[in-house]
Amino acid sequence: MPRLRKSITVERKLTGAKISGRSETKKRALKRLVSAIVQPANNHAGVMLTPCQERAWTLLQGKENVFLTGAAGTGKSFLLREFLEGKPSALFPVVASTGVSAILVGGRTFHSFFGIGIMEGGAESAARRACQNKRVLTRLCRAQGVVIDEVSMLPGEALRAADRVARIARGTDAPWGGLQVIAVGDFAQLPPVSGGGEGKDWAFLSDVWEESRFSPALLSTCVRTKEPEFLRVLNFIRNGIVNEEVADFLNARILPPTLDFRGTRLFPHRATAESHNRQKLDQLPFEEKIFDTLFAGREHSIAQLRRTCPIPEALHLKKNALVMLRKNDTSGKTRYVNGSLGTLQRIEPECLTIALFSGESVEIEKTSFALLDGNGSEMASAWNFPVNLAWASTIHKSQGATLDRLMVDLASLWEPGQAYVALSRIRSSAGLFIERWNPSSIICEPRVMEYYRTMEDAIPTSLARESD
Ligand SMILES: Nc1ncnc2c1ncn2[C@@H]1O[C@H](COP(=O)(O)OP(=O)(O)O)[C@@H](O)[C@H]1O
Ligand SMILES: [Mg+2]
Repeated sequence: MPRLRKSITVERKLTGAKISGRSETKKRALKRLVSAIVQPANNHAGVMLTPCQERAWTLLQGKENVFLTGAAGTGKSFLLREFLEGKPSALFPVVASTGVSAILVGGRTFHSFFGIGIMEGGAESAARRACQNKRVLTRLCRAQGVVIDEVSMLPGEALRAADRVARIARGTDAPWGGLQVIAVGDFAQLPPVSGGGEGKDWAFLSDVWEESRFSPALLSTCVRTKEPEFLRVLNFIRNGIVNEEVADFLNARILPPTLDFRGTRLFPHRATAESHNRQKLDQLPFEEKIFDTLFAGREHSIAQLRRTCPIPEALHLKKNALVMLRKNDTSGKTRYVNGSLGTLQRIEPECLTIALFSGESVEIEKTSFALLDGNGSEMASAWNFPVNLAWASTIHKSQGATLDRLMVDLASLWEPGQAYVALSRIRSSAGLFIERWNPSSIICEPRVMEYYRTMEDAIPTSLARESD
C-alpha cells in the first residue's frame, strides 16, 4: 500500500537494507521502521486506511482463507489493489466471475483459470476434463493462493468444480487443495446469472463455501460517501426496505429526464443505454470522429473479447462529448479512476484531452485491454482510447464504478441488489437524480441478509461496528 511503500523507502534510507517485494517482509520492515522513528503507522502522509481496512489488511497477511466483504464503497477493490501490489501473478493470480470484471482487474476469468470452461455437463465432468489439462494442473500447483473478485456473481456450481480440480491437481483432499483463497465481493450486489432453473445458485450457499471456512474481513465504513442520511437510506435499500425515509429521499430526487441532463443515465437494459448515447452525440454540433478498436489474437478469443471488452468496437466521439475513463491512472498521480467522468476538449489521432469533473485536464493515449487465458498469457487484445460515451450505461456495467452525477430509471428492475448497485455508485447525494421508481424494484435476497447478520453476530461488537 502507498503508506507501506513510503515507509519502506524511508527505511531503506535509514538502514541501507534491501527489502524484497514480499508483503511479509514489507510488514516486518514497517514494524522495524515504526519502532525506529516512533511514529504510528496511520500518521504517514499519503493514503490512510480506515480502521476496518487496517484489520482486514492484517487478516490478509495471514495464511487463512479470507472473505473480504462489506457494503458498496467501503474500499474492497481499493484494499485488494494494495494487497496485490508487488505479488507475482503466478503465485497469486486474480480471477473474476465475469469477463468484464476480469478485464477491469487485469486478471482472467475464474472459469478459464480452473480450466472448467463453460461447465458443459455440470461440475463433475467439467472438473474431470480440466484435470486432463497439464497446464491447468501445473499452474494450480505453482500458485500459493488465488484471489476471486466479484464473487457475488459466481455460481456455487463453478466453485464446486474448481475446488475439485484444485484438490486433484495439488494431490490433497484439503479444501482447494490447500490453496489460500481470498474471495472479494458483496452478496447484496448483483447475483450470479441464473441458468434458467429455480432460484439463484449463490456461492455462499454451496458446500464448498462452507468447507472453505473463510475468515470474514468485513469493511463497515463507507469511503465513497460520508453523508449520514444517504448512508442510512442506502442501508435500507440494501436490506430491501422501502419505508417513509426511503420514499421521501427518492421522491425528493425525482427529475423529469431531459436530454440536457449533465451526468450519467443508468438504465437496466443495454439497448436503451446505447440509444441514449447516440441521441446525445447527435445533438452536438461538432464533427464526429470514429476510432475503430483494433483487435488482435485468435479468432474465437477475439469474439470473446468483443463481448466483454469495456470499450465498444468503434468509438464515436465529438468535441464536448461526455466520456467515462475505463482504466485507472497508472502514472502514479491518481488523477482519475475507472469510472471518472469528463468532457472531451480535444480529439487528436493519438491523444484525447479530457476536462475531468474533478477540475483537472488530462491527456489520454490509446491503451490495450487484454483477454488472458488461464495461464495469464494474452489470447486477444483490444487497442483504443480507454473511454466510452458516458451519457448512459447499464446498471450491470456500473458495478464497481464510482460516479459523480447520475440519473437512474428504477421503474422495473428484476434482480436482487440491482437498485442498490445503481444508487450506491454516487459520491454525494447532491449528484443523484431519479427518473422514476417503483417499490417493487427494490429487491433483496433474504438469505443474503441472513448471511450477513450471522457474520456480524460472529464478530465482536467492538470490531463490527465502529465510529470512524
Ligand atoms: N483508504 C482509502 N483512502 C482513500 N480512498 C479510498 C480508500 N478506500 C477506498 N477509497 C476510495 O473510495 C472509493 C470506493 O472504493 P472501492 O474500492 O471502489 O469500494 P468497493 O470496492 O468496496 O465498492 C474509491 O474511489 C476508492 O478509491
Ligand atoms: Mg469494488
